[in-house]
Amino acid sequence: MKAFGKLLLAAIAIFVLLQFIHPAIPSPPVTAEIAAPPQVLHVLQKDCYSCHSNERRLAWFDQIEPGYWLVRKDVLTAREHLNFSTLGSKPAAVQKATLFEAVAMMQLGAMPLPRFTALHPDAKVTPEDLAILKAYLAPWSTAPPASTAITPVPATSPVNLAAIAPELNGVPFDKDFETWKPLSYTDRGDNDTFRFILGNDIAFKAAQSGNISPWPDGSRFAKIAWAQETGPDGLIHPGRFIQVELMLKDASLYKDTAGWGWGRWRGLDLKPYGKDAHFVGECTTCHLPVRKADDVYTLPITTSHGMLQEVVNNRAAALPANLPYQPLAWNAITMFVDPATRTQSTLYGNAQALQAANPRSGNATPTYPAGAVLALVTWVQRDDPHWFGARIPDAPRSVEFIEVTSDAAGKYRRYDGASLAEDAVFPNAAQRKTFILGLTPAKLP
Ligand code: HEC
Ligand code: HEC
Repeated sequence: MKAFGKLLLAAIAIFVLLQFIHPAIPSPPVTAEIAAPPQVLHVLQKDCYSCHSNERRLAWFDQIEPGYWLVRKDVLTAREHLNFSTLGSKPAAVQKATLFEAVAMMQLGAMPLPRFTALHPDAKVTPEDLAILKAYLAPWSTAPPASTAITPVPATSPVNLAAIAPELNGVPFDKDFETWKPLSYTDRGDNDTFRFILGNDIAFKAAQSGNISPWPDGSRFAKIAWAQETGPDGLIHPGRFIQVELMLKDASLYKDTAGWGWGRWRGLDLKPYGKDAHFVGECTTCHLPVRKADDVYTLPITTSHGMLQEVVNNRAAALPANLPYQPLAWNAITMFVDPATRTQSTLYGNAQALQAANPRSGNATPTYPAGAVLALVTWVQRDDPHWFGARIPDAPRSVEFIEVTSDAAGKYRRYDGASLAEDAVFPNAAQRKTFILGLTPAKLP
């Protein structure tokens, strides 16, 4: 009993002494607070400012050692990543993009840090908080990019894909990315871009078998981004090429970056992104909310079922087995969105069609040889459950095929309706054929 008393006294003494080791958290002045309406600021102040601002809002119990040291570390790290007290000095587009990232973090429960809300229930994100931010950002309220013609792309000479420099963290470029199979497509209303998400053979097979928790070593993703442009047809098409990003899975080689090698190559000359190897922190931090899905945002279009909710997109994959071809196993030539019907379409081609569709030829309309088969799959769109501001394919609405024949006329076959049955009496076959054959392949570097 005596020994216990001594121990207790010693513990109390240590606890008291610890209180003197109290390094300060600097509070520099608020120079440029994020520009946003008061109700938006109120949400950020309540849920986020304890860590992401120069206005420290700590509770009394946060000030007690040793907990204080952890709080201090969180605050300093958080400010390094994002500081709402200085964000106002950045361009308006950057401030908005940060808010989109904030919504993604909040709705997937990644922010505020769960260990923080356990002790500070007031900072918990409520449905009202999210509704306020979403109403302010309203990604789909603005008209699609106004333009009446697709900007002609100057015929630049294509880059030598085999000679592209590795990323600054050493992750190599993969010259074969464009031969990989499409896993999905996103229509990003937060920044007016389209993205193809492609997977190499290992990734495509893993998606087809549902073996994606985690994705097997050797899986590779490419994400290609284009600026959206509204054509004279009123449809939104991929215009200017922006960048290609890669994620290469190797759990041991890339163990410090969540098991993935990350790289981004920008512009038609595919210049490695970033000032130095630290750029990778941007990738891993923004992919953090999908930690449970092995850091992967995309819901691959597949008939298999994943182990977790909302990690695959079965709804979009529901193409009946009786179609003459299964286009989801082919490669994609381009995509477009019809803003009037909120549908999204992807043009697929068989091997002969892909060979003729030269994505490096600028705006040329391909001449498809006999034997080429094109398939245009049209889906209704739905909101991406992983990223506010993005839309992804939902249930298919129609599948149209063109079998190109030697007289270049080609045969048009259409499947539509709830069960995607063959529509042999469709009146506009000739117009659809001209339209589909005239689609421009999405430009590649
Ligand atoms: C307890 C402190 C804490 C609170 C409260 C908190 N965060 Fe964070 N936040 C962090 C830390 C630490 C990081 C760095 C995460 C990392 O890299 O591991 C971070 C990172 C982020 C990032 C990534 C920034 C980047 O680098 O791109 C965003 C966005 C973010 N937080 C948003 C929010 C939002 C929105 C809220 C309020 C709803 C919030 N956070 C509340 C600690 C906090
Ligand atoms: C601001 C948030 C954000 C940042 C920063 C970010 N990503 Fe992503 N990434 C996403 C979202 C959202 C998706 C889902 C597809 C889409 O809509 O663009 C995605 C998808 C991807 C994909 C397709 C596989 C998947 O996870 O769905 C790759 C590859 C990728 N990102 C690479 C990168 C690389 C490399 C970097 C860093 C240079 C990076 N990302 C930085 C948000 C981000």
